[in-house]
Amino acid sequence: MVAPTDRKPVVIVDDVHVEYKVLATGKRATAADSSRKLMQRSRRTRSVHALKGVSFTAYENDSIGVIGSNGSGKSTLMRAISGSTPTSQGAIYAASRPSMLGVGAALIKDLSGERNIILGGLALGFTRREMEARLDDIVEFAGLREFINLPMRTYSSGMTARLKFAIATVQDHEILIVDEALAVGDRAFRRRSEARIREIRDNAGTIFLVSHSMQSIRDTCNRVIWINKGTLMMDGDPAEVIDAYQASTG
Ligand SMILES: Nc1ncnc2c1ncn2[C@@H]1O[C@H](COP(=O)(O)OP(=O)(O)O)[C@@H](O)[C@H]1O
Ligand SMILES: [Mg+2]
Repeated sequence: MVAPTDRKPVVIVDDVHVEYKVLATGKRATAADSSRKLMQRSRRTRSVHALKGVSFTAYENDSIGVIGSNGSGKSTLMRAISGSTPTSQGAIYAASRPSMLGVGAALIKDLSGERNIILGGLALGFTRREMEARLDDIVEFAGLREFINLPMRTYSSGMTARLKFAIATVQDHEILIVDEALAVGDRAFRRRSEARIREIRDNAGTIFLVSHSMQSIRDTCNRVIWINKGTLMMDGDPAEVIDAYQASTG
């Protein structure tokens, strides 16, 4: 990695641990469970130590690929950065509120794709007029021209995911987290989304991209972190980290 001394730190992850408490019944412990009920069940509570002391600093204009096998803790790390999963030890500091791609788009299945674009935009803080001006671009980007007046419930999961990606990225994000959202489209859609991610990064954004596509990571990231069993195995140049990861998985 180049010495990042002149770049602004945007996210600092400092010795982060995340431990999930799981009831052995398969149910997760929720705030609704009374403490007494939890105590009675405590013998059947198991804990999953999903992150075990992860530390790194992300800088402005960083586009960080996050790789690792299933269950290694990638999504947990992303949720901890976005603030939706609490850390059980350590701390995370962010220069602005990180957004997880897609969560903002509270869409309604019975409405058409077009009406959902307007709705999703309103949820992101755009006006109706601003969204109407962007409508064509979003439809084009999502590749849903012929389907845009049909209710969203008739869309395949891939079409829905493309629509959500297209809506969520009309906004420039300072810190954007994309957790396996690129796997949803065909090649052309993947190209468009990667280009959009680079554009956000170039507008002084910081991006985390979790993906199993090493090609997407190579094409969009300047840095890669490899998480294995809750620990940070490697952090650095994409080609080097990807090679080491692939060598380890055989
Ligand atoms: N909400 C949860 N409750 C309990 N355990 C969880 C929860 N989310 C993830 N885990 C566990 O934490 C570990 C890491 O999972 P995850 O962060 O989803 O990994 P990845 O995204 O790399 O596949 C796994 O063992 C998984 O079963
Ligand atoms: Mg995951």
